[in-house]
Amino acid sequence: MNMDALVALCKRRGFLFQSSEIYGGINGFWDYGPLGVELKRNIREAWWYDNVTSHNELVVPPGAPSAFQMVGIDSTIIMHPQVWKCSGHYDLFHDYMVDCRETKKRYRYDQVQGRWVEYNGQRIFVTTEAVGDEALADVEHKALRFFNLRSKEADRLVWHSPLVSLTTVEDFSQVLAPDAKTLGTLTPPREFNLMFKTYVGALSGEENVAFLRPETAQGIFVNFKNVLDSTRVKIPFGIAQVGKSFRNEITPRYFTFRSREFEQMEIEFFCRPETSRAWYEYWRQRRFNWYISLGLASERLRLRDHSPDELSHYSCGTADVEYAFPFLAPGDFGELEGIAHRGDFDLRSHMEGKLIRKGNELVVELGPDGQPKYRGSGKDLTYFDEETRERFIPHVIEPSAGADRAALAFLCEAYAEDMVPDEKGVPTKRVVLRLHPRLAPIKVAVFPLVKKDGMPEIAQRIYADLKPHFNCFYDEKGAVGRRYRRQDEIGTPYCITVDSQTLQDDTVTVRDRDSLRQWRIKADDCVEVIRGLIRG
Ligand code: GAP
Repeated sequence: MNMDALVALCKRRGFLFQSSEIYGGINGFWDYGPLGVELKRNIREAWWYDNVTSHNELVVPPGAPSAFQMVGIDSTIIMHPQVWKCSGHYDLFHDYMVDCRETKKRYRYDQVQGRWVEYNGQRIFVTTEAVGDEALADVEHKALRFFNLRSKEADRLVWHSPLVSLTTVEDFSQVLAPDAKTLGTLTPPREFNLMFKTYVGALSGEENVAFLRPETAQGIFVNFKNVLDSTRVKIPFGIAQVGKSFRNEITPRYFTFRSREFEQMEIEFFCRPETSRAWYEYWRQRRFNWYISLGLASERLRLRDHSPDELSHYSCGTADVEYAFPFLAPGDFGELEGIAHRGDFDLRSHMEGKLIRKGNELVVELGPDGQPKYRGSGKDLTYFDEETRERFIPHVIEPSAGADRAALAFLCEAYAEDMVPDEKGVPTKRVVLRLHPRLAPIKVAVFPLVKKDGMPEIAQRIYADLKPHFNCFYDEKGAVGRRYRRQDEIGTPYCITVDSQTLQDDTVTVRDRDSLRQWRIKADDCVEVIRGLIRG
C-alpha cells in the first residue's frame, strides 16, 4: 500500500495532525483529530470490553487453564521515584545513541538503518539515514548491485558497526576511489535514559526529581496490595490499565509508530508459579487472536517468540505480535504488542529492592556499602492462598499493547484503492478504509437522495433515531455518489439513503462499504439493523 497516501489522508480527513503544527511541529508528538480520536477510543474500548467488561469470571475461556477474574485501575503518570529505581528503569531503561560527526544528527545506535558491506577487503557501512525515509531495501539493493554482490552473499552484511555513512550510489563510488573520503563518521555509542525528567513542587533540586512513566505496568504492581485488600479477587486474576506513557525516544519515526508520548493498554496477570507457563501460552494466543478478530487477518500479522538473548532482564519468555508495516523494509515486522512472562521480578523488586540476575537466580542488587542499591517498599506483596494455606509471590504474565501502534496497523491494513462504478456506471478510482465496523470512527451515514420532496426531513428523523446509539453522520450536500466516496474514505461501513421510494413505502436503502451491496429496510428498523450489522 501507499504509505504517503495514507499519511495524506490522515491529515486531510482529520485522523492525525502533527502536534503544535502551527509552530513547525515537535518531533515525536502527534494529535488525533476528530476522526482519529474516535478510532483510538474504539480501539481502547474494544480492548477494555474484550478483556475486562465482557469477561465472565464464572466460565473457563477456550484454551485457559481455569476461570479467572479481571479488574481495572487508573494510576498516575508521575509516581514515587523509587518505583523506577526498583523496577530497573532508572538504571537500565536506556538506549545507545550515536551522533554523526558531520551532520550532527543523532541516531539510536541499534536502529541506525544500514548494513556493513565487504568490498575488496574494505568494510563499508551503508546507511539510509541521510536520505530520510527512503526504503532501506532500495538503498541496500543499489549497494548490492553496485558492489556486484549476488543476493545470496547478502548474509555477509553485518549489523551494528557504524563507520562510514553512504547514502547514494555516488557516495559508494567515492569510497571506492583512491582518495575516498570518510563520510558521516559516527561517534562511539553512549547511554541515554529514555525517561522524561521533571520536578515535583516549587523546588528543582535533585530531591524533587520525578519521572513521567515510561510504561503503565508499574502503576499496577505498586497497587497490587490495594487491589487485593479492597476487592475479593483471588488468584488467578488480571489487572488492566490504559493510559499515556512517555519515552524520550532518540529517533521517533515512522509516523506514530515510535512516538515520545503514546498510549499503552496493559494487563498484569497474577497466577501461581507452577501454572504460569500455561497462562503465558494462553495469553500469547489470545492476544494474537484479538488483532485477527479486528481485521488484521492477513499474512502481514505474525506471533514471534523471542530468542533467549532477546529477553528482557526479568523475562523468562516473551512473544511479540508483529505487523509488517508498509514503511518497513520488505520482510521486516514492527511490534504491536509484547506478551511477557515476568516471573516474580516486579513484585519482589517492589518488596525487597531492585533485583539483578545472577546465573539462574534473581538477587537483590547491592550498592558499594553492601546494602540494597535501591530499597524496596518493605511491604508484604505475597499472596495467601486460603484453600491450600500457602503463601507465595505470584508470577506475572504481561500482555502489553500500544494503542497508537494498533491504530496505525489498523489504518495501514484498512487502506485500499479500488475501481468501482460511479453513478453513471463508469469504473472510477475509489479510496476506501476497510476498517472493522467496531473500529470505524463513524458507524453509519444518513443521506437524503435529494434536498427536496421532504427527503431531508425523513433523513433527519432517522439520524436523530440513530444518534443516541452510534456515532453517525448526516450529509445532504452534493451528488450522492460523492457522499458515498467521502464516507468510504474514512471507513464508514454503512450508509442509509432516503429516496423517492421512501415516500411511498417508508423503506430506505442500506449500502455496504465493502461489497457495495444495497438493500432496502424499513425506516423504523434502522437502529436494530445497524446494531446487528456492527455486531457481525
Ligand atoms: N510494560 C512492558 C512494556 O512497556 P514495551 O515493549 O516497551 O513493553 C509495550 O511496550 C508496547 O507499547 C509496544 O509493543 C508498543 O506497542 C508500545 N510502544 C512502546 N514504545 C512506543 C513508542 N515509542 N511509540 C509508540 N508505541 C510504543
